[in-house]
Amino acid sequence: MTSTLLTGIGELFTGRTDEAGRPTDAPGAETVLRDAALVLDGDRVAWLGPAAEAPAADLAVDLAGRAVLPGFVDSHSHLVFAGERSAEFAARMAGESYAAGGIRTTVAATRAASDEQLTAHVAALVAEMRAQGTTTLEIKSGYGLSVHDEARSLAVARQFTTETTFLGAHVVPAEHAEDPAGYVDLVTGPMLAAAAPHARWIDAFCERGAFDADQARAVLAAGAEVGLAGRLHANQLGPGPGVQLACELGLVAVDHCTYLDDADVDALRGSGTVATLLPGVEFSTRQPYPDARRLLDAGVRVALASDCNPGSCFTSSVPFCVALAVREMGMTPTEAVLAATAGGARALARDDVGVLEPGRRADLVVLEAPSHVHLAYRPGVPLVRRTWIGGRPL
Ligand code: NIG
Ligand code: FE
Repeated sequence: MTSTLLTGIGELFTGRTDEAGRPTDAPGAETVLRDAALVLDGDRVAWLGPAAEAPAADLAVDLAGRAVLPGFVDSHSHLVFAGERSAEFAARMAGESYAAGGIRTTVAATRAASDEQLTAHVAALVAEMRAQGTTTLEIKSGYGLSVHDEARSLAVARQFTTETTFLGAHVVPAEHAEDPAGYVDLVTGPMLAAAAPHARWIDAFCERGAFDADQARAVLAAGAEVGLAGRLHANQLGPGPGVQLACELGLVAVDHCTYLDDADVDALRGSGTVATLLPGVEFSTRQPYPDARRLLDAGVRVALASDCNPGSCFTSSVPFCVALAVREMGMTPTEAVLAATAGGARALARDDVGVLEPGRRADLVVLEAPSHVHLAYRPGVPLVRRTWIGGRPL
């Protein structure tokens, strides 16, 4: 195994926090270290600390004052699809509202695509993500919505990540429009059986016009029986029962969290459930942004993710989401980067990524900038200069 010493790190954003997930200066646990060095050994971080105390290594790389941070952990994406919906986006920007009905358009295109086409498309989107600093990502199905098309969507996704999520309960597809209960039986029966071997997680879109709380509960319960851990899309388009359901079930994460009342925030506060915020959606649908400040001040754990999908948000860029979270959602740059690294890791129940400390995976990003603050201060600028994944330079 070769060890590599990274020197000349102007700012090392470790991703470490206090017990409550807040940034800290506590000695030995600093969220941000200056004049630091870091040693990679094999696929792991072996050492980090003040540059003056750095141990020797086989190789040395001088980063000339640039910032280093954990690779982004994008805990929410829908990359397995075909086609695009730019006309729908343009219509929205001309005043139409987002209603999620366009999902069926993408379902038709996805069913018509070959496995090879779907795989090539996911590969292209994953390459975009990698170029923008994402080193761990989750991918959902949900544009197949038949036994065959959900199973093959997940088989495609699995080629790119271990964090695969079965989202058969995305919407009721057109052919089952008259029998939503029958569709839920299909999802919890044969579709789940075909999908489960390829999935780690199960998800449902708990929203008016998609699935109600009882249906979402049934889907998650069926998934749990075959070993899939649950997560939920909730409170995206309006108030609803999803966030409280997620907290009641003790899910690892509940995603969107745009329309929250006090009871939702109380439920999140008292749970270990991560609230995953997806501000690219509000950007792309012209909806109000989630109130991250309220959640953080209540002590709720927050993650930031892309939600990359062809309808509500077609960005693969976590840095863009960080900038939005800072500008529009009351997060400090440090909180936003924490949410996109350590927060994303927590939202995927991963303790090997999202934080730089000895023993963790050597997944890290070097910025063409002296500080993580530049991710929000210089929005839209491609600041990711180098990336290591599992100790290997990209
Ligand atoms: O997370 N909310 C449901 N699903 C996606 C949007 C899907 C689409 O519009 O194609 C989301 O926003
Ligand atoms: Fe989503």
